[in-house]
Amino acid sequence: MRTEQPKVIYLKDYQAPEYLIDETNLTFELYEDHTLVHAQLVMRRNPERGEGLPPLVLDGQQLELLSLSMDDRELGAADYQLEDSHLTLQPVAASFTLDSTVRIHPETNTALEGLYKSGKMFCTQCEAEGFRKITYYLDRPDVMSKFTTTVSAEQHRYPVLLSNGNPVASGAEEGGRHWATWEDPFKKPAYLFALVAGDLWCVEDSFTTMTQREVALRIYVEPENIDKVQHAMDSLKKSMRWDEEVYGREYDLDIFMIVAVNDFNMGAMENKGLNIFNSSCVLAKAETATDAAHQRVEAVVAHEYFHNWSGNRVTCRDWFQLSLKEGFTVFRDAEFSADMNSRTVKRIEDVAFLRTNQFAEDAGPMAHPVRPDSFIEISNFYTLTVYEKGSEVVRMIHTLLGAEGFRKGTDLYFERHDGQAVTCDDFIKAMEDANGVDLAQFKRWYSQSGTPRLQVEDSFNAAAKTYSLTFRQSCPATPGQKDKQPFVIPVELGLLDAAGNDLPLRLAGEAKAQGGNRVLSVTEAEQTFTFVDIAERPLPSLLRGFSAPVKLAFPYDRDQLMFLMQHDSDGFNRWEAGQQLSVQVLQELIGQHQRGEKLVLDPRLITAFRTLLEDESLDQAMVAEMLSLPSEAYLTEISDVADVDAIHAAREFARQSIGEALFQPLLARFQANRSLSRATGYVAEAAHIARRTLQNIALSYLMQSGKAEVLEACLEQFNGCDNMTERLSALAVLVNSGFEQEKADALARFADYFKDDPLVMDQWFSVQAGCGLPGGLERVQALMAHPAFTLKNPNKVRALIGAFANQNLVNFHRADGAGYRFLADHVITLNALNPQIASRQLAPLTRWRKYDASRQQLMKAELERILASGELSSDVFEVVSKSLA
Ligand code: ARG
Ligand code: ZN
Repeated sequence: MRTEQPKVIYLKDYQAPEYLIDETNLTFELYEDHTLVHAQLVMRRNPERGEGLPPLVLDGQQLELLSLSMDDRELGAADYQLEDSHLTLQPVAASFTLDSTVRIHPETNTALEGLYKSGKMFCTQCEAEGFRKITYYLDRPDVMSKFTTTVSAEQHRYPVLLSNGNPVASGAEEGGRHWATWEDPFKKPAYLFALVAGDLWCVEDSFTTMTQREVALRIYVEPENIDKVQHAMDSLKKSMRWDEEVYGREYDLDIFMIVAVNDFNMGAMENKGLNIFNSSCVLAKAETATDAAHQRVEAVVAHEYFHNWSGNRVTCRDWFQLSLKEGFTVFRDAEFSADMNSRTVKRIEDVAFLRTNQFAEDAGPMAHPVRPDSFIEISNFYTLTVYEKGSEVVRMIHTLLGAEGFRKGTDLYFERHDGQAVTCDDFIKAMEDANGVDLAQFKRWYSQSGTPRLQVEDSFNAAAKTYSLTFRQSCPATPGQKDKQPFVIPVELGLLDAAGNDLPLRLAGEAKAQGGNRVLSVTEAEQTFTFVDIAERPLPSLLRGFSAPVKLAFPYDRDQLMFLMQHDSDGFNRWEAGQQLSVQVLQELIGQHQRGEKLVLDPRLITAFRTLLEDESLDQAMVAEMLSLPSEAYLTEISDVADVDAIHAAREFARQSIGEALFQPLLARFQANRSLSRATGYVAEAAHIARRTLQNIALSYLMQSGKAEVLEACLEQFNGCDNMTERLSALAVLVNSGFEQEKADALARFADYFKDDPLVMDQWFSVQAGCGLPGGLERVQALMAHPAFTLKNPNKVRALIGAFANQNLVNFHRADGAGYRFLADHVITLNALNPQIASRQLAPLTRWRKYDASRQQLMKAELERILASGELSSDVFEVVSKSLA
């Protein structure tokens, strides 16, 4: 826990390190009640910082210093100064070796940062600032060192001992212990250090690189999970090939390892040669993991693997540059997933996620630029803005430069900066130099926070045969940033004629038309583009593929949206037109509910959905995406003041009406797909994933009818299927239904069958936590007492508390504030156990400005209560204090 006052750290204060660490030689002695860490650091004065020998200030937290010597001279208490998080001493030569021994306690480390125990195994998480909980060090990413690590432990309990790089030696010791030494030939910052010790099994494979080098691939898991590793291994090999083909990047060590651990704060970590993963992002087989979970494993394996170049070989100078590696790597993994699966569906899912969650962050009290200017606790900046918006920024560069120009830029970036710790400016400079372009204005995407608005108006001149689009951009004020300068906004668009075809596009002044789809760069606050040779008024399709992370507004009417849904040549915009139509219809229902009127659904939504369901030629995955109504969370995000109850009532009413009006075509789609599932058994291919998705969304609409025949079909799927995708969907549909007895039976049977599989139990908790029927809070409270639940496991916290507060809006936002009180209570408990998780769970309370006066009061009161609850971690302190400011 923090005892020094939380300090704000500013980007503008960055200074290169005073000292460098050329070599880091570590020895870990792991015991059940403590661990000894010996560190030998070969150090020298940083020549960049000039002459003289300033004091050496090492980072260190929760370390018990047992011995310290410099160049073999033992140092006593008079030779150094020891504070809560620093050790200061005075070098007497420009080069020296520092030896230290500290005692630490991984066995009681519940923060899951530094060295800790997950179940019976030891593992590490050092990003961002966890290494300072392992030994005294210069724990900053611009200090890069060559690491050699020896791990010693009891042979019987910990037969597998791993660290970064290549294994170089091992042996037995006295007393049933053994040791292994690993050497990483690549210089790296301490945040990429990793160590694992445990009783693990591994699946082994190999990969031949583009220059014909053999790389050993190993995925380590606890023995009971050895049958759930193949999918991750396949994903790894695909990722390695893809990075060679698309970016020309080859793997660089002789071995690449992944270890799955159950207790992990995030998804996974790209430690050099030894990735450590949340087991939820590695383990997957048909019987226990849904199609979505399989796709997540594929994406996260790729993400961490891609970091070997975008993050490890070229790393960040300081943590303000986090998006340099994260935004870029998210973009890389998104493109990989698009290439492996359906590109349009991947884009739809990512955009829906960004607009619901990142836009909310950008509009809230923690809003920050992709490259923040300041922070109190860096762990709080592993955000949707740094990751997802950061990825959108890289995507826009890709859109503006084209695939070839972008590749020239990344080639130059990797070549120029290999082995260095650099900044977002260096990334942009490589893009500029490789393409001869100026991205100075574009860089505002890195420095200005908030989601830009882009208002579009059109005008048609029949006599002159011209059509003009006028764009007006603005960006709302965000914390610390009142006035914004115009962004560079790439707008990909087309103009549809009356038959729905893309018109040839020629801007005034151009010699000839340039295709029917193009990218305009909007760079001014207000800017008009005029197209010529336009004989009839076209219908614009704007921001195709979501070419920029903005809120675009164009006054489409519902008939125009239905037309775009059917005819737009851009699949993403066909979906987007459907979403806009749904939003208009739902907002009308919300208004009716608020005025106490009878709810009446615009029949055009039914017509549009019927057309989709009846067209057998359409990709079933697209049909499923287009039949999905915008979530309550998204409807909240786009409201000025979110009326939780009205949103819930309106959306439920729409679902009910759709289920009734389209009962027959939905049933036909459901039955055809369920029969196929029965006939083929589970097939993990795109076409089958698509039809399972459609089957399951159809089932959820059908169940709205409450008909016995649907219940029967649902139970048949639940009991008769051979995979988690169908089973979990059937369970979710039952849980959200009124069939109390069948629901209770299904939940009990499921839990009984899967009680020993924690990842499946997470899904069981989530399905119940998300149920919007009355009594949600009481159900969640009861589940917290379930033997499979524990606050110490982050996946459990996310599955139950997180799913409740983020996805069950109508229950979480109960008018009496009990949902808020519940969340605050657990944040206070978690603050002492695991500050990172506490701070993340807090997010829903920080959105208080979105709600009515009474809820605002209740939410703020809970934030105040957290603030007054005692000694807060810097993580929780920062989020609470900023959201009350
Ligand atoms: N670099 C990791 C990834 O995105 C995330 C690690 C985040 N760790 C943390 N403590 N916030 O792949
Ligand atoms: Zn990452």
